[in-house]
Amino acid sequence: MRILVTGGAGYIGSVSVEAFLAAGHDVTVLDDLSTGHREAVSEGAALEIATYTDAASVAHLLRRRRIDAVLHCAAKSLVGESMVDPAKYFRANVAGGIALLDGMRDAGVNRIVFSSTAATYGLPERTPITESDPIRPINAYGETKRSVEGAIRWYGHAYGLRSVILRYFNAAGASTRNGEQHAPETHLIPNVLAAAEQGRELTIFGGDYPTPDGTCVRAYIHVEDLAAAHLLALQATDPADSRTGATAGTAGTAGTAGALACEPLICNLGSGTGFSNREIATAAEKIVGHPIAVKIGPPRVGDPPVLVAGAQRAAEVLLWQPRHGTIEEIIESAWKWRRSHPNGYSG
Ligand code: UFG
Repeated sequence: MRILVTGGAGYIGSVSVEAFLAAGHDVTVLDDLSTGHREAVSEGAALEIATYTDAASVAHLLRRRRIDAVLHCAAKSLVGESMVDPAKYFRANVAGGIALLDGMRDAGVNRIVFSSTAATYGLPERTPITESDPIRPINAYGETKRSVEGAIRWYGHAYGLRSVILRYFNAAGASTRNGEQHAPETHLIPNVLAAAEQGRELTIFGGDYPTPDGTCVRAYIHVEDLAAAHLLALQATDPADSRTGATAGTAGTAGTAGALACEPLICNLGSGTGFSNREIATAAEKIVGHPIAVKIGPPRVGDPPVLVAGAQRAAEVLLWQPRHGTIEEIIESAWKWRRSHPNGYSG
């Protein structure tokens, strides 16, 4: 396949690029390097430094590189920031996402895998969450992802866009080559490890949540397992594949002559097991080999208390089997990457 990866210089995108190249695919990365890192892009991939938010230039690129399918990872993705600057999130994720879809339509590329999020579920009614549970985001970030999911669905019905929507739970860990480096860093595991390195206190946001130890609970997925899921998902968008084709309810409703009404395949990518923020700090102590001081600070606006799902549908339909299951493996790989990149990507 000739694959375009938006956000391919970012954390999840760069590890996915590694997996696609290893499987023998031709990869183009589209990234404006606003938060990604040039050094994160593997040598075998072509890097186009540009935005995905301009339909005409996207269409031109898709034609020039003769792209078959798109993995859309690029996005603004911080829950906390989305609550103080929702305009930035709607512009980049929603307006930008529609521009990408329109560029794809223009160029006749009708296969997409979309990086969505557990944040679409908001305050889940039950745990573990399943894909048919209601989506009622409680933060602006989750709302933007829900909006793009909706657009993809209707583009499938009207224009025959084949899609897999992957609702990630918390991505963590590293490959040997690529790891997590954001500025500023807001994610729990890198912040725990930074606190351990620098001998300073970790602040846990909120200690009064309705959870067993009062801190939020999340399900962590190794970034290499997400990459493997992306590859399986791209395969499921093949024109001959029934998993992303017309469904009984939508066949015949296509708005464009000759197009087939398609329904997105939606899969949670979770681990089934939740860990509280305190448990993550304790697990990290075992990896780094010394205690990590923790203090409880005020809760972060927009944080749901618990987000946990399994991956039954991804296992059954995509045949996805996560290989790096334990939280120790996940934290250890992140720790190793930090130790081998003491100055991050600039070192
Ligand atoms: N946290 C702390 N201290 C920190 C950093 C985080 O206590 O220094 C807490 C957060 O408040 C939250 C938990 O750790 O309770 C996890 O926070 P992260 O920022 O690591 O991750 P989020 O759950 O907020 O969000 C991540 C992705 C989103 C995605 C979501 C899905 O950033 O894109 O997982 O579950 F939507």
